[in-house]
Amino acid sequence: MELQGKRILLGVTGGVAAYKAALLLRMLTSAGARVQVVMTEAATRFVTPVTFQALSGLPVYVDQWDAREANNMAHINLSRDADAILVAPASANFLARVAQGLADDLLTTLVLARDCPLLVAPAMNRQMWENPATQRNVALLRQDGVTCLGPVSGQQACGEEGEGRMLEPEDICEALIAHFTPKVLAGKQVLMTAGPTFEPIDPVRGITNLSSGRMGYALARAAARAGAQVTLVSGPVALPVPNGVTRVGVRSALEMHEAVMARATAAQLFIAVAAVADYRVDQVAEQKLKKELGGPPEIRLVPNPDILADVAALEAGPFCVGFAAESEQLETYAQRKRERKGVPLIIGNLIQDGFGGESNRVILFDAQGAHPLPLASKDQLAAQLVEEIAQRMAP
Ligand code: PMT
Repeated sequence: MELQGKRILLGVTGGVAAYKAALLLRMLTSAGARVQVVMTEAATRFVTPVTFQALSGLPVYVDQWDAREANNMAHINLSRDADAILVAPASANFLARVAQGLADDLLTTLVLARDCPLLVAPAMNRQMWENPATQRNVALLRQDGVTCLGPVSGQQACGEEGEGRMLEPEDICEALIAHFTPKVLAGKQVLMTAGPTFEPIDPVRGITNLSSGRMGYALARAAARAGAQVTLVSGPVALPVPNGVTRVGVRSALEMHEAVMARATAAQLFIAVAAVADYRVDQVAEQKLKKELGGPPEIRLVPNPDILADVAALEAGPFCVGFAAESEQLETYAQRKRERKGVPLIIGNLIQDGFGGESNRVILFDAQGAHPLPLASKDQLAAQLVEEIAQRMAP
């Protein structure tokens, strides 16, 4: 519930993308926000206020002279009651009116009267977007501190192709969550590992483990929301790459080691979440191993390099955070790992709590001792961990 307790005023202006505003509204309320919808008259030609009322659970406002407000000042009351105003879709006409400070309907009037941030997600035909007048208006809005989300390129409702499509609702929702996230990692380069590794035996078989990558991907998302430039070196998982995160895909521990070491000195923070195989197969068979060759094959294992320990040993390297997944004696083993690998912080979890699932329960181990956090979803936990890590890093 990343938007729990937040009051969002969702403005909807006239454009085909207005139907996507209904999906956006659903996502915002699912993330915990209370959403008040205000539509322009043109928007009601595309989607009726009833849809937004049903989805938000609140009456929708369209008319500047709405008699439901006792003082007849809907524009003041609504804008004072919002932590942010988000207009999606924002038409070319709406952007022009706001850029010029016009207040000729309820939405533009309350935008002019606001004392909270304004975010707009433009949506229009590509030529309307490219028109110098629109570009001038958007530049003016940016100068005035308005956040412009998109637009993006792609197929347009009119059949043309180009820039002017509204950002997808999930990306707008993500941008709003990021907007409210304290920027505790602003300007920091963060390097992370996540997921399992796969150590090949022959062209089709290998040794791997049950890490889903969820904990690492959640942390990458939380670090990006907190203002970091995040590079995620990921073992083989099929999770979507979080917004603003650069993913480097690898398979084996050796590949992960190489990808990390090439980027480690540029990072200020390294978080090793991956479940890396401690051993790999010494001689990988070039052809598929055949059963008929008599008896089970003998597979000799050799140790993999320890990525976390190697980064921690770098001179002027990043602040290092490791994870430890244990099936027993979490405190003893995690503290031992922290000392052996030479890192200031290890995040310990029991395998039954963290491996594979949607939630986790962790204990932070540092030089001061053990600091447990309650069971939570991996997304919630990631946001807390980012705060904890940022507090421990040098400014
Ligand atoms: O992916 P999920 O399903 O969401 O599960 C998350 C998780 C359980 C995998 C994660 O929370 C976790 O605990 N990751 C560490 C797994 C582990 O057992 O690590 P380890 O005890 O083998 O290693 C300790 C630390 O050294 C880890 O930070 C690991 O990334 C790192 N390491 C280990 C071996 C190696 N060769 N190189 C390393 O960098």
